[in-house]
Amino acid sequence: MVTVVVLVPWLAWLVVSLLSFYLLTLLAHARSGLPPGPRPLPLIGSLHLLGDKPHRSLARLAKIHGPLMSIRLGADLFAAGSDTSSSTVEWAMTELLQNPSSMAMVCDELAQVIGSRRNIEEADISRLPYLQAVIKETFRLHPPAPLLLPRQPETTVKIAGCTIPKGSRVFINVWAIGRDKDVWIEPEKFMPERFLGSTIDFRGVDFELLPFGAGRRLCPGMALAIRMVHVMLASLLNQFKWSLPVELERDGINMEDQFGLTLAKVVPLCIIATPI
Ligand code: HEM
Repeated sequence: MVTVVVLVPWLAWLVVSLLSFYLLTLLAHARSGLPPGPRPLPLIGSLHLLGDKPHRSLARLAKIHGPLMSIRLGADLFAAGSDTSSSTVEWAMTELLQNPSSMAMVCDELAQVIGSRRNIEEADISRLPYLQAVIKETFRLHPPAPLLLPRQPETTVKIAGCTIPKGSRVFINVWAIGRDKDVWIEPEKFMPERFLGSTIDFRGVDFELLPFGAGRRLCPGMALAIRMVHVMLASLLNQFKWSLPVELERDGINMEDQFGLTLAKVVPLCIIATPI
C-alpha cells in the first residue's frame, strides 16, 4: 500500500481525504452520543449550513435542533464514498476504451492543458471541459446509485396527476431517466460531446441527470466525489497509455452491469497500463 501511495500521489490524497472525513465524523459522533436520525433537521443534506468553522456552527445548530445527524460509519460512509467513486472511474475507463475517438479527444485535451507536467491539480479540472463531459456522460449511462435512496411521503401527495399514498416507498430510477429517448438523442451511445456547450449539470438541479440525487438528501459527499473522480480519471489518463489485453481486443469488453449497493460491472475491467 505504501509503495502504491508513493507511486500514485493522488491516491495518497484520496486516502487522506476519506480518512480525515471518517475520523472527524467518528469524533463528532463519539462526543455527541447521537441517537438515530433526527427528523427536524437531518444534517446530512444540509452540510452547507456548517460554514467556515464547523465545530462552532455544529454546536450552535445542536443547541437549536438537538441531535443533528447519525451516520453508520463503517457501513454508510465508506460504502457510500468508495464504491461509488471507484465504479464511476471504472465505467469511464471502460467507455473510453470502447470509444477510441473519445479517448483520443480526452488525451489530446490533457496533453494541451497539462503538457508534460505529471501531477493533476484540482484547479486544472475547470480547464478540462472534455474530461468534465466524459464524467457527465459516464454518470448518465452508469449512475452508481441507480434508484437513489428510497423516499417515503409522510402524507398522501399528488404529483403530476399521480397519487402517492402516505407511507409508500418511492424509488427514482435515474438509470432509466439517463437512457430516456424522449430526453436524450441516441441515449445508448457514449457521446460526451452532447454536454459540450450544454448547461446540464449533475448537482441536483437538472432533473435529466441526477447521479447524486436532489433536494435535502442530496449526496453529502458530492463536492469531494466530484473532485476525486475528475482528478483520478485525469491522472490515470495523463500518466499511462491504456490498452486492452489480447482476449478483450478479440472478444470485446463485457458491458453488463449488476444492481447491488452500487451499479458495478459484472466483469471487472482488467486492462494494460504503460507509463507515458
Ligand atoms: C461518484 C461518487 C458518488 C455518487 C454518484 C454518490 C451518489 C449518492 C446518491 C445518489 C445518494 C442518495 C441521494 C438521494 O437519494 O437523493 C448518496 C447518499 C449519500 N452519499 Fe454519496 N455518492 C458519491 C460519493 C460519496 C462520497 C465520496 C461520500 C462520503 C465521503 C458519500 C456519502 C454519502 C452519504 C453518507 C449518503 C447518505 C445521505 C443520506 O442519508 O441522506 N457519497 N450518494
